[in-house]
Amino acid sequence: MASKASQRLIVALDVPTVEEARALITSLGKMVGCYKIGLELLITGGGDLARELAEDGMDVFIDAKLLDIPRTVERATANVAEMGAKFLTVHGHDRQTLEAAAAGRGKSDLKLLAVTVLTSVDGGDLAQQGVAIPAEDLVAQRAKFAKQAGFDGVVASPAEVGAIRQAVGSKLSIVTPGIRPAGAAKGDQKRVASPATAIKNGADYLVIGRPITQAEDPKAATQAILDEIKKALK
Ligand code: C5P
Repeated sequence: MASKASQRLIVALDVPTVEEARALITSLGKMVGCYKIGLELLITGGGDLARELAEDGMDVFIDAKLLDIPRTVERATANVAEMGAKFLTVHGHDRQTLEAAAAGRGKSDLKLLAVTVLTSVDGGDLAQQGVAIPAEDLVAQRAKFAKQAGFDGVVASPAEVGAIRQAVGSKLSIVTPGIRPAGAAKGDQKRVASPATAIKNGADYLVIGRPITQAEDPKAATQAILDEIKKALK
């Protein structure tokens, strides 16, 4: 696992336009190991931006959270692999979807990550969806599906890192969104932790959006997070 703080940090480019995303990338540059392009940006030119960044040698994370019939998932994954992206997310609800993504990646270097349970969801929300088991157990179950399908990692809350390691061992990378430095607003996130806690729990990568993108000074906010990660890694 990467030991440098910057290689652990993935910044979510959750902004309305490609122009705003470009401005953030220009400002943060190589302070950040990887930039994540999610649905908001994918729908408005994010795919071309991803290709461009990959051509410039940057690590790009396509957070498409795929969930569709197997053929569609397979073809979409093949197109993301062709873009030159480093990571792609797929919802980890069921084996067929994960296996379709694994088939679509072919022999490319694309790393597949299964989204276990969204960090904006808690036990009450799961009950509303008809799911009777605790989030942590569901996360562990889906991590096992991901491992069986040949995935490279999972996305989960920092609180579930231990349960995942227990369920699937240390081979899968664990990517944790729901990161909030002290004093930052939670927004719609529910299962949250600080950057230091996520690292100390054993997360491999931290996905951080609003605490950086909506900060008055995104560069200073990024530096403070990097300092916190660095300290926690010692
Ligand atoms: O702004 P914030 O730091 O909450 O952004 C978190 C990012 O991680 C968002 O882009 C969101 O889509 C993504 N994400 C998440 N929970 C997951 C998977 C991805 O919050 N389980």
